[in-house]
Amino acid sequence: MNKKFPDSFVWGSATSSYQIEGGWNAAGKGPSIWDVFCMIPGKTQGNDNRNIACDHYHRFREDVALMQSLGLKAYRFSISWSRIMPAGRGDVNQAGIDFYNQLIDALLKAGIEPWITLYHWDLPVALQFEMDGWIGDDISDVFAAYAEVCFRHFGDRVKNWITINEAWVVAILGYGHGVFAPGIKSKDLPYRAGHNLLKAHAKAVDIYRKQYQTVQGGKIGITNNCDWREPLTDSAADVAAAERALEFFLAWFADPVYKGDYPASMKQRLGDRLPSFSEEEKQLLRGSSDFFGLNHYTTMYAADATHGAEGGSVYGNGGLSEDQDVSLSVSPDWEMTDMQWAIVPWGCCKLLEWIAARYDNPLIYITENGCAFDQTPIDGQVDDRDRIAFFEGYLAAVHEAIGLGVDMKGYFIWSLLDNFEWASGYSKKFGITHVEEGSLNRIPKASALWYRDVIRKNGL
Ligand code: GAL
Repeated sequence: MNKKFPDSFVWGSATSSYQIEGGWNAAGKGPSIWDVFCMIPGKTQGNDNRNIACDHYHRFREDVALMQSLGLKAYRFSISWSRIMPAGRGDVNQAGIDFYNQLIDALLKAGIEPWITLYHWDLPVALQFEMDGWIGDDISDVFAAYAEVCFRHFGDRVKNWITINEAWVVAILGYGHGVFAPGIKSKDLPYRAGHNLLKAHAKAVDIYRKQYQTVQGGKIGITNNCDWREPLTDSAADVAAAERALEFFLAWFADPVYKGDYPASMKQRLGDRLPSFSEEEKQLLRGSSDFFGLNHYTTMYAADATHGAEGGSVYGNGGLSEDQDVSLSVSPDWEMTDMQWAIVPWGCCKLLEWIAARYDNPLIYITENGCAFDQTPIDGQVDDRDRIAFFEGYLAAVHEAIGLGVDMKGYFIWSLLDNFEWASGYSKKFGITHVEEGSLNRIPKASALWYRDVIRKNGL
């Protein structure tokens, strides 16, 4: 990778609390919906859970040293809500605050900028029982109060905040297909959950801007995920289907944040099933992100379909297919990762251009991009050349987008460590640094050393 990126480009890697921390009931931490979901037989591959995971809770100093040795400039991690508020609201657990304070201080000492995600899916289970989780009427206020606790305790040192990670996943996989916690299957609840997630984001941003941003001087935004949808043919119907699929995937959450309301296609197709925002909520939402956080992994073809068409995998299908009349497919020529996600770097460039055009060229950070390949270490080394090829391709696509005028500000590899991959358990390996659950070895992969060189060549 000999391409030069802008001087201020942020080079990072990302993780999430549930996937790496372990210490699931350490020092006053309350249980989360993922702790409980994993106890139900059959919900995760091999019935895996994250009780230990990468044991980052106990070994974070070692992990920070690892990040430093890779030359990372930024590290995106999430806070476990129930570690600092065991019941989700009310009492604050000082031991949880202490843990994140130590992590933040260690990062800063190592010259690594902390990027905090406030919600990466591990809702305190008390809030699921007591207020129906993300479909409860008061959840957005409870989230905002939790966010305030984080700004207050960490905001003197943390200048980059992401409110919600991938509201689409929470809504569709958690409340639609039911394959992620809390495991609810419904046709209507995803839209209600999505609505509350957006309100929660807007309320947290409002608190940050009114009470903290001027003094602390940080920035705040939301991270959404989206695949690219390429029209299967150049027929007007397929072109419209691909656009609709992107609207039901990304614009569902980005239009309210940039334009103050849901896309017209969703309102028209969903009618009353899509809740509506009050004028006050629209105002709070419009302009509520200082940057566009994007998690991007793959591409699929989209074609116009008759009502009820299905297509793609549960992870890749972009929502409830019958609401969109879109059918999805992949080309047999595309290579696949172990998640069965197609490797299509040009789709990344097209998606970035689509975002720039629709949202008036916002500052964009790719807050996650990566691939799963399960390689066995040989003699203490992991020669993951597939992963290097993947990153070469996607970073070249990001570089191309910059050349086309897209305002790209940074890139975070998913993920620093092999970790707990939700319903796939430990069977899929995403990290640039290899780790066995709770093991004492963290073995750099060839891709980690490759990434270090890319960062170095960019003169940082
Ligand atoms: C994202 C998610 C991450 C990680 C990744 C790979 O959707 O934010 O937690 O699991 O996908 O599947």
